Amino acid sequence: MTVREILKMGDPRLLRIAEPVTEFDTPAMRRLIADMFETMHAVNGAGLAAPQIGVNLQLVIYGSRNNARYPEAPEVPETILINPVLTPLSDEVVENWEGCLSVPGLRGVVPRWHALHYEGVDQFGAVISRDVDGFHARVVQHECDHLIGVLYPMRVTDFSRFGYTSVLFPELEGDEDD
Ligand code: NI
Repeated sequence: MTVREILKMGDPRLLRIAEPVTEFDTPAMRRLIADMFETMHAVNGAGLAAPQIGVNLQLVIYGSRNNARYPEAPEVPETILINPVLTPLSDEVVENWEGCLSVPGLRGVVPRWHALHYEGVDQFGAVISRDVDGFHARVVQHECDHLIGVLYPMRVTDFSRFGYTSVLFPELEGDEDD
């Protein structure tokens, strides 16, 4: 396993539409997923999308168990989600703070669907189908946005609530990797 370089906002590879995965449980995929978990854990991330390490595939991982960066966040099961399709379950939109490993040092308030249904497959091609809300729904929306070339600052509607983590949340100082 290898900690991979996380691309930062401004890199055109973060703006691509990711390709669907067509082969499952291959050695290359196992290596990719292992590298993604190692990379995410190395920076205490709650999620990571393959395009963030320059791999243009519809594959995201997430999970927030015991995450020092989000101590108040409810647990989200560790998940490998491939070829996802998201469908909101209501019109309700909620706002909350987000950061991104590709946008280090910054946080912003982002409106997201409160509740959604998502479907996809895991690394073996087995179906994943869940109804979720709150933080879980937010994490999935954030990660899946990376598959359509969208970074969270592109969804910020109120730039008075966007800024440096060290200024907005000084208690999180030292947590510079975001
Ligand atoms: Ni992100």
